[in-house]
Amino acid sequence: MARTVWDSTVGKKTVMAVSGLVMLLYLVAHMIGNLKIFFGAGEFNHYAHWLRTVGEPFMHYEWTLWVIRVVLVVAVVAHATSAYQLSRRDIKARPSKYVHKKPRASYATRTMRWGGIILGLFIVWHILDLTTGTVHPGGFETGKPYQNILDTFSTWYGNVIYIVAMLALGLHIRHGFWSAAQTLGAGSRTRDRALKTVANVLALLLTVGFIAVPVGVMTGVVS
Ligand code: HEM
Repeated sequence: MARTVWDSTVGKKTVMAVSGLVMLLYLVAHMIGNLKIFFGAGEFNHYAHWLRTVGEPFMHYEWTLWVIRVVLVVAVVAHATSAYQLSRRDIKARPSKYVHKKPRASYATRTMRWGGIILGLFIVWHILDLTTGTVHPGGFETGKPYQNILDTFSTWYGNVIYIVAMLALGLHIRHGFWSAAQTLGAGSRTRDRALKTVANVLALLLTVGFIAVPVGVMTGVVS
């Protein structure tokens, strides 16, 4: 049964939509959490500590965080796998008049694919920067994300990487949210305009909310 669903195009689109929405929920929470940086080091670092103790005493230290990490990894893998397989189908399904030319995927597929690749690379960079500290500029300190963020956005390349990724994120969510709504059957002639507006507003809020952090550091509002 699961195999039949996964093998169908609509099954893969559903997997993409649901995994995308899971990541979107995470991003809304992450963006709101990041804005606490404007309330100072004490409040921000306290929030980061709380993320590790959520659910105590039932959950052990960092258990909830690990549950979230596992859910996100499953979502990323499911999203990327179904995207790859759907784009292969999209190319193969082109009419045969293209037989002498190199087959090309549609415009939306290509921009979503490149956006997805940029975001995938960004996530790897971001974890090595602010979670493990491997590529972090300056002395990375576990448990001190406020200072770590100041270090990252005190370099020109840190600002460039994050801002480019946030713009890619906005575009990706704008189209992705809309597609997910269609796949999950929320679209209709009367609702499509509203859905487009929701997709635009959501993409804009996330992009602006995330970019506020590097801009805050660059302008000295966060110091
Ligand atoms: C300016 C924008 C961003 C800032 C300042 C930021 C900051 C941070 C910080 C400080 C952490 C570590 C939290 C901690 O260990 O307590 C973190 C974790 C994380 N961020 Fe971001 N983030 C930003 C944007 C994003 C975006 C756009 C994504 C996804 C597309 C993302 C995905 C993640 C993930 C998955 C983790 C969890 C890593 C882990 O601990 O397992 N972040 N972020």
